[in-house]
Amino acid sequence: MADYDSIVRGGTIVTASDVFLADLAIKDGVVAAIGSDLGTAAEIIDASGMLILPGGVDTHVHLEQTGLGPEMCDSWESGTASAAAGGTTTVVCFAWQPKGGSLAAVAADYRIKAQKARVDYSFHLTVTDPTPEVLEVELPQLIAEGCRSVKVFMTYDGVRLDDRQVLRTLAAARRNEALVCVHAENHDLIAWLTEQLVSAELTAPKFHAYAKPMIAEREAVYRIISLAEALDVPIQIFHVSGAQSAEEIARAQARGLKVWGETCVHYLTLTAEDLDRPGFEGAKYIFGPPARTEADQDALWGYLKRGVIEVVSSDHSPTRFDDPKGKKFAGDPAPFNKVPNGIPGLAARLPVLFTEGVSKGRIDLPTFVRLTSTNPAKLFGLFPQKGSLAVGSDADFILWDPHKAVTLTNALMHHGGDYTPYEGYRTQGYPVATFLRGKPIFDGETVVGAAGGGRFIARQPYPMIAPLQRFPTPFNAVEGKLT
Ligand code: URP
Ligand code: ZN
Ligand code: ZN
Repeated sequence: MADYDSIVRGGTIVTASDVFLADLAIKDGVVAAIGSDLGTAAEIIDASGMLILPGGVDTHVHLEQTGLGPEMCDSWESGTASAAAGGTTTVVCFAWQPKGGSLAAVAADYRIKAQKARVDYSFHLTVTDPTPEVLEVELPQLIAEGCRSVKVFMTYDGVRLDDRQVLRTLAAARRNEALVCVHAENHDLIAWLTEQLVSAELTAPKFHAYAKPMIAEREAVYRIISLAEALDVPIQIFHVSGAQSAEEIARAQARGLKVWGETCVHYLTLTAEDLDRPGFEGAKYIFGPPARTEADQDALWGYLKRGVIEVVSSDHSPTRFDDPKGKKFAGDPAPFNKVPNGIPGLAARLPVLFTEGVSKGRIDLPTFVRLTSTNPAKLFGLFPQKGSLAVGSDADFILWDPHKAVTLTNALMHHGGDYTPYEGYRTQGYPVATFLRGKPIFDGETVVGAAGGGRFIARQPYPMIAPLQRFPTPFNAVEGKLT
């Protein structure tokens, strides 16, 4: 009988801190040994000339959310095919409370839908209506079941919370040991600017960026940091789009606060100019907050290198372009404020970030692994099961060809959408195979992971998101007592 199920031989392992030549032995879906001359295995996987990277962990992915009007074009089945094709082996998606409805009911339904996943997964809990029932009964139960992160919106009609509701939700998350993730934009400023733009008949896609200027994001980032500081609650700011928001996060971190930042590949590669493509093409680039300027991109790279922003996600939130259920939901063309926000990005995340980051010399290999796998796994309580290639971790890995040039097309995304914002983009670096718990789920061309092969990962309490026990006054407002 062989010592191991498989040995990955001849590759270069990249971790969050090191790059080294070694073989990787796998038994029962976990990494069993790392080194040389490891023994015998039922299967030898040849990794000569390849990098062996921990599977991507994408902690910001929207799949199969319903009841929003426009239709999301990725199910758990198609969305996780796209994940596998891009080297991502774990996704965290959103159980999204309908306004006036039950979060628990939607999470239960989402658990059933997610049984079609091809990669491992967990859930964030999106709170759109923080009633006492939701905050005091449903949220504690769902967090205890392992959905240990809560998402709040400060903008968007029908989903946003006002500041008092945000405070109640932050307090509930703190009591139940969950991380809060925030979509931070000033709703009233955006609503008023939108009214003014529409009144002036300035409704082409490019005016989306005029309606959501950087100042709307920066103000909300500062405000949520202040609210979270007042209640001593750790938070992650989602989709930081440019320099000014990142500066607020850096300032908070310098004060010792547990405030983390996420950016997305599109903020590093696209600009507001992409909204000004001919005809209605700009609608393909409508997402919120919008893409900014090249100067913002440069600043974001700096914040990534310095570790102020620690995670690069996809914010995969796809609707089809040429479809009355998608970007053309309100017509062709439709005014920018009626176009659904969001773009696909799951499969492109790693190849585009590798090309822009590693191949162009902006970041080194361990930084790439930290941003795309290790840091999100740590921040969301998935580490060391995920985000790591160490003995005992799940054997989720990518065989990565650092030189492979691929011209991206929609077909290569393996998703349910009819476009990719990266059509024609030339990569330098691409996954040639993806493995989930030791089994192949992508062979370089075809997604071979079965629908249903993914597992729910319940996230237990973890020290990284423990509060600081630091309040602005000697009153712990969350517990309602003097400290
Ligand atoms: O435009 C975006 N980002 N759509 C997805 C929902 C969100 O705000 O994260
Ligand atoms: Zn958002
Ligand atoms: Zn999102």
